[in-house]
Amino acid sequence: MSTNRQMILNFFMNSTGFHETAWRLPSAEPEGVTSLSLYKKMALIAEQAKFHTVFLADAYELGENVKHQALNRLEPYTLLSALAGVTERIGLVATVSTSYTEPYHTARLFASLDHLSGGRAGWNIVTTGIGKTHLNFGREQNYEHTERYQRALEFVQLATKLWDSWEDDALLFDKARGLYADVEHIHAVRHRSDIFAVEGPLNLPRPPQGYPVLAQAGSSEDGKELAARIGELIYTAQQTLADAQAFYADVKSRVEKYGRNPNEVKIVPGFSVIVGATESEAKEKEAELRESIIPELGLHRLSKRLKVDLFSYPLDGPVPELPDPATINENRSRFELMKNMIESEKLTIRQLIERVSGGNGHRTFAGTAEKVADELESWFTGGACDGFVIRPQALPSGLEDFARLVVPELQRRGLFHTEYRGTTLRENLGLARPNNQFSAQSQQRKGVQLA
Ligand SMILES: Cc1cc2nc3c(=O)[nH]c(=O)nc-3n(C[C@H](O)[C@H](O)[C@H](O)COP(=O)(O)O)c2cc1C
Repeated sequence: MSTNRQMILNFFMNSTGFHETAWRLPSAEPEGVTSLSLYKKMALIAEQAKFHTVFLADAYELGENVKHQALNRLEPYTLLSALAGVTERIGLVATVSTSYTEPYHTARLFASLDHLSGGRAGWNIVTTGIGKTHLNFGREQNYEHTERYQRALEFVQLATKLWDSWEDDALLFDKARGLYADVEHIHAVRHRSDIFAVEGPLNLPRPPQGYPVLAQAGSSEDGKELAARIGELIYTAQQTLADAQAFYADVKSRVEKYGRNPNEVKIVPGFSVIVGATESEAKEKEAELRESIIPELGLHRLSKRLKVDLFSYPLDGPVPELPDPATINENRSRFELMKNMIESEKLTIRQLIERVSGGNGHRTFAGTAEKVADELESWFTGGACDGFVIRPQALPSGLEDFARLVVPELQRRGLFHTEYRGTTLRENLGLARPNNQFSAQSQQRKGVQLA
């Protein structure tokens, strides 16, 4: 099947894969978690396969289950800056929290990454909903859900002002006159509110893309509103086509409500995948991963997430009744998703652990390249998404399989590009470079002076 519309593919990268015990597989390289060579190898495979981005999640704490899981992780700006030097086209998306960083510092770091990569930076804007990060930042409690999102919106708006604080023509490099920069075109931002006070300007010229691509993954009401106002690449987790279609229609209509073009916002659900050359090979890989599961790890993780002590129930019995989602301050949408999945599929605790260990609430699938391509195609052409976040359950092997087997199949069907369209991430995603807020003011001032 051939169509003009083509899907966006993002490679969600971590060290050993998205199945939580994939580090135990013979093909995994857990010793490489802190070595550049592992990530360089994967970024180059992803770029050769023409993935639009490599995407890194992040949190500012060590997860509780490091006893059984590869949870130590490199800091995203540092890793992506290193990858910027060894790749040429692939987008580099870092997760940074608006709850536990400051706008000036974050705007500067993203501007640096965008400059160093020649316009390939993206920012996954998160508000840090789960865990104990607050204890690493001098707070007794995390911010409440609504407060987190208020802070996120103001944070991002302020960051865009900082990136705009240098107009594109601010640098003169006029050696003869000794004029390095035109200070009329470099602006203070003078932002003062109850949350932030930032004078500006930034100490770097405007990033090549204007702003890094703004990615976002909130799925609650507040999260979807933020996505609709500022998001350009929207990560999400849905289990069924119907839920994904509903989310897609919901977010796109909210985008229109804010006067934005729905095509400016690309929605990409997660897809936790195992690919085999044959159906039986895919099932073998799936079984190998299932055998690596440590039930104690699943019980611990799920008890925390679902707010029920699962250790006191039989593994092969039903999941006990769960609390009302409205009482959940942490990742509410993921809680709801799991609650719905448990109720509709009547899962036992063991089945739930098996389901969740491969996808952490994202959709999981194991099959041949044709079957995987069929699944992706049906969601893509069925009004459920603009592309996907590909989460290989085992790394690096699962990325190699996807790149070698699935990408050519998608290309053969005309569903995925065979070459990068441009050099910046915005060009490759079909997103415009944003106008500079201060340039419009400068033009107006010039108009007044001339008149
Ligand atoms: C693909 C994907 C990746 C995510 N990565 C992160 C991450 O790296 N760090 C983080 O704190 N939250 C991450 N999240 C969680 C979201 O930011 C968000 O908190 C979650 O979807 C719940 O939405 P809500 O905050 O609106 O309730 C991710 C979500 C998705 C769907």
